[in-house]
Amino acid sequence: MAHIIELPTRSDSRGSLTVLEKVLPFEMKRLYWIYDLNDEARGKHRHKQTWQALICLQGKCEVVVKKHQHEEIFILEKPNEVLLLEPDDWHEMRHFQGQPILLVAASHFYDANDYIKEPL
Ligand code: TYD
Repeated sequence: MAHIIELPTRSDSRGSLTVLEKVLPFEMKRLYWIYDLNDEARGKHRHKQTWQALICLQGKCEVVVKKHQHEEIFILEKPNEVLLLEPDDWHEMRHFQGQPILLVAASHFYDANDYIKEPL
């Protein structure tokens, strides 16, 4: 099931630096980011093969995750937290605040045939 992983961060008088290495259970093949968001929810699908890792670099959003009639809501608002989504974790991103920038690392190249709209 989806879960949040806290990433190591080095903070000093100059600011903070967060590292994403050796924590994802997949090799990253694709990186994309979502921004300029409005009131419309995004996502609302799961994948056949693709693992994804979401980081909210700026702002705040909710990620609803559904699988086997179980629903969990994750709040993403810290740039040192990554939400790991398994392929069959149906997810919806919503309730955007503070001009979010959502960075997504994916295990596979983009393929429209890898999408499934209904939760498992
Ligand atoms: P979509 O999957 O609907 O975004 P979200 O899951 O955030 O709701 O993708 C929006 C558009 O971008 C759609 O036309 C497919 C395209 N797209 C790519 O070309 N490459 C990608 O890596 C992704 C994620 C989407």
